[in-house]
Amino acid sequence: MAVIGMKEAREFKEQHGTPLLVVSKRRIEDKIQIWKDYLPQVQMYYAVKANPNPEILKIINSSNEYFDICSNAEIEVVKAFGVKGSNMLHTHPIKRDQDIRFALENGVNWFVFDNEYELQKFLPYKDRVNLLMRISFPNPDCVVNLSYKFGADPVQSIELALMARDMGLNVKGLCFHVGSQNLNPFKYVDAIAECKRIFNLLALQGLILEVLDIGGGFPVEYNEHIMPLRNFFNPIYDALNRYFSNTRIIAEPGRFVVADAVDLILTVIGKAKRDNVWWYYVDDGVYGSFSGKVFDHCDYPLLSERKGKREQCIVAGPTCDSFDITYQNSAMPRLDIGDMLIVSSMGAYTSCSATNFNGFVPAKTIVID
Ligand SMILES: Cc1ncc(COP(=O)(O)O)c(C=O)c1O
Repeated sequence: MAVIGMKEAREFKEQHGTPLLVVSKRRIEDKIQIWKDYLPQVQMYYAVKANPNPEILKIINSSNEYFDICSNAEIEVVKAFGVKGSNMLHTHPIKRDQDIRFALENGVNWFVFDNEYELQKFLPYKDRVNLLMRISFPNPDCVVNLSYKFGADPVQSIELALMARDMGLNVKGLCFHVGSQNLNPFKYVDAIAECKRIFNLLALQGLILEVLDIGGGFPVEYNEHIMPLRNFFNPIYDALNRYFSNTRIIAEPGRFVVADAVDLILTVIGKAKRDNVWWYYVDDGVYGSFSGKVFDHCDYPLLSERKGKREQCIVAGPTCDSFDITYQNSAMPRLDIGDMLIVSSMGAYTSCSATNFNGFVPAKTIVID
């Protein structure tokens, strides 16, 4: 559901111009509260990569002071709000020596690994480093599979953790990512049960783990409906209580916190009829806020204030590239040049991957209460 109505959007368009991203502070706060209500035992570390806009980080920081960071720049942007390094978790499984050093210098001392070569890099800092071992759980039911590039095979993970211990490194727990926009809560349940098995096998070898990180992947509604959030979170809550009642549990949600808290206001800047199909050209595209169409495989709800019969149309971005198509096969009432459109759920993996290609600058962002 959009965070603003058409009337409000028209006022913002008048005041700020378009393309314009409108962030709802209340919606972000509500999402953090929903998390606290449904998974009260899980400390959220917001995944900065989903949307590192400083205004958004400021809102998140005022209700939740923990952050998942993956790079030196992400450490810097979060640190600018006074967040302590001890409240950050470095979740990138592959790092350079200077990245580890930079993180440690800034007080970040929790890191992730998933292979033996990464372990070598921690040896010079072994007394200052706590490690989570990332386990791979491939998932065909999610939109973005995050166990293709990273994660140790669950069977081989036992040997890897014991190798780390024998190297004198502090392996403190496990983490996983079931894939982004994961629609099936039982993927978490299965992963949690498998992690319990790994915890137990390692305990038999004298390696006692203390932390479980259940990653990100929690879904939001785009064009497709998702199950009610209570039904989604319940099985995860139960599995954590069943298997991990005495373990510190953390998570790294990104999309869930910000995606549906941001609307994009667009203007139709041109139109044409080609081969009997209407083409509408708008002032933001796949090189801008719609970059999530390419990298995040997302399809965002498109709203117009026009009523009337819907006709098949193509909606295209402003650049000269034919690839810059935002909706290849949409159905909209007949639009005119100057019309305003609202695109909802534009908060995650959108503006952060926007470019200046062709001289079109990324959309401006405003925050409303
Ligand atoms: C390591 C890690 N943690 C957390 C996230 C956030 O995932 P999501 O936005 O699906 O919650 C990602 C997304 O790519 C990730 O790679």
